Amino acid sequence: MNKKYRRAIIAGNWKMNMTPTDVRDYAAELKPLIPKEKLCDIVLCAPAVTIPAAVRAFRATRVAIGGQNMHYEASGAYTGEISADMLVAAGAKYTIIGHSERRAYYGETDADVNKKLHAALAAGLRPIVCVGETLDQRETGATYSLINYQLSMALYGLDATTVRRVTIAYEPIWAIGTGRAATAEDAEEVCRDIRIFLRSNFGARSARAVSILYGGSMKPANAAELLACPDIDGGLIGGASLKADEFGQIIAAAQETARMQREEDEAE
Ligand code: PGA
Repeated sequence: MNKKYRRAIIAGNWKMNMTPTDVRDYAAELKPLIPKEKLCDIVLCAPAVTIPAAVRAFRATRVAIGGQNMHYEASGAYTGEISADMLVAAGAKYTIIGHSERRAYYGETDADVNKKLHAALAAGLRPIVCVGETLDQRETGATYSLINYQLSMALYGLDATTVRRVTIAYEPIWAIGTGRAATAEDAEEVCRDIRIFLRSNFGARSARAVSILYGGSMKPANAAELLACPDIDGGLIGGASLKADEFGQIIAAAQETARMQREEDEAE
């Protein structure tokens, strides 16, 4: 199945939830649910002020902490903004870039996403770049061209080696926070197209090394089916990541899928 060339990643996106105080109880609940065997990477993307507390709470575990957004400039007169170096200094290893909520509510453009991506990589962060269509775009058959456009803008200027440090999250906007996840078939179809885009722009070796996540109402009930798809390497999880037990169940599903796939690969 070729998943052996890339990491499975289960990433939580807490959005504007979780104070530094909330993290303690959450970590106490999640830690016992984290499997010892490292078959997937686990990430929690926290609000900026909560990052240090989250880093502390998950120290000496395999959970990495990420930011949810950053500015592309290194410093300066950008009131309210946070730079990539600041995220790194706070202990973040990842950052989400171009989430649809940032694009929709704060006017973030594809050009901004590209600048942020370059800045994140230069700072040593692992960016999770979000792409996805609205319901209107899906219904008018624009999904494929839209995703291709978002990807070509976001990844502009990267070479075949650097792109391997990027994770792509396919998040159909109509599935985010609505309880209505994409079917595994629909999600796989777009994630396969994303891999084809990567292959034609960066070559087969890079395409098979980039992890592609699905996001949008992923929960314990649908995680296993989505994660079993050949081009879906993990999840970016909003609502269900706020409950440690649900997030733990999704991690368990990812571990189980990765274990089965490893066995399949070994048998090939
Ligand atoms: P959701 O959010 O899981 O609550 O749909 C996903 C996301 O926006 O990253």
